[in-house]
Amino acid sequence: MTGVALPGVRLRRCDDVRMKILVTGAAGFIGSAVTRQYIGETDTHIVGVDKLTYAGNVNSLAEARNHSRFLLERVDICDAPEVTRLFAEHRPDAIMHLAAESHVDRSIDGPGEFINTNIQGTFVLLQAARAYWVTLDEPARSAFRFHHVSTDEVYGTLGAEGFFTEETPYSPNSPYSASKAASDHLVRAWHHTYGLPTLVTNCSNNYGSYQFPEKLIPLVLLNAAAGKPLPVYGKGENVRDWLYVDDHARALRLVLEKGRVGETYNIGGHNERSNIDVVRGICALIDEFRPDSPSVPHDSLIKFVADRPGHDLRYAIDASKIALELGWTPTETFETGLRKTVQWYLANNTWCRDVQSGGYRQERLGLGE
Ligand SMILES: NC(=O)c1ccc[n+]([C@@H]2O[C@H](COP(=O)([O-])OP(=O)(O)OC[C@H]3O[C@@H](n4cnc5c(N)ncnc54)[C@H](O)[C@@H]3O)[C@@H](O)[C@H]2O)c1
Repeated sequence: MTGVALPGVRLRRCDDVRMKILVTGAAGFIGSAVTRQYIGETDTHIVGVDKLTYAGNVNSLAEARNHSRFLLERVDICDAPEVTRLFAEHRPDAIMHLAAESHVDRSIDGPGEFINTNIQGTFVLLQAARAYWVTLDEPARSAFRFHHVSTDEVYGTLGAEGFFTEETPYSPNSPYSASKAASDHLVRAWHHTYGLPTLVTNCSNNYGSYQFPEKLIPLVLLNAAAGKPLPVYGKGENVRDWLYVDDHARALRLVLEKGRVGETYNIGGHNERSNIDVVRGICALIDEFRPDSPSVPHDSLIKFVADRPGHDLRYAIDASKIALELGWTPTETFETGLRKTVQWYLANNTWCRDVQSGGYRQERLGLGE
């Protein structure tokens, strides 16, 4: 097997065989969005694989959980015998790998878990996938895909100008991005050395419903709604390229279905915003939705705090490859996506309370002390 690129090959092997995908990290923010789309909009079977760390929550899978085409396996991706069992038992047509430790601040305080899950876990999955893949018959073997979901943070930081393309050299700056970069390299090597049919996607910052409230947007949103201070790192000048999570999920499905084997696709929202503008945008929406709050105007709650060590200044994605090759562009603007996100969090108190009951109290992390 040479791992030859098969442009445009559809994963479904024949009309009467339904596709089955292992989705690692299915109980997390992006994994649950992908799962919701597959279950709600296709006839694909999903086996969710998740350790259910603090960041994974079965409540995020409420819409899929009782569906006959969905199954959740509580498995640590670093557990090789268990991962081998998953392939043998479920015999998937593809794996979409999202499980990761994903919060930069946590990676500064405790990088060990990031090395473990993001690097060792990806290695375990690659080995198990390869061992399974070589046993498949030829049509199944050429249709199989290992889709590794990664971040634009592997490229490092940009100045005021320019964009990350698929050719930008890797230059990760945080323990998180370094661990993701390492996992991307492993995936590349498993394709080139063993011919495993891989795909890699590198995406910009996501936002939307079901995001654990330690990340900027849900953290600020929930603090503002509760009349608590809104911590902004440094002067709030760091720029991120925001993508609504459902747009990311659509891009991932498209790459898995139609992406060229061995290729990398950058995914981004063309929505660059400085952190302070994001925070002010959230405050304005909460002013609108909660006009009687004693905290109006909510931007009076903004508090500038010590910057994150090694904080990358700017990320911005050139997403022209996925647009030209696969026809993907985002459907939400930052304004429409942010409005939906604020409305969702304000209407979903129970989910917010449940995910925060596990020990995380919106405290400051990531000062490396
Ligand atoms: N959130 C973003 O803005 C963003 C942007 C680009 C890429 N990504 C990448 O997308 C993926 C998903 O990100 P997210 O924001 O949904 O993360 P998340 O932290 O919300 O979810 C991660 C999920 O992985 C699970 N997990 C963690 N360690 C595990 C292990 N050892 N075994 C099995 N499951 C484990 C967690 O329980 C959780 O459900 C990550 O690989 C991340 O690097 C995220």
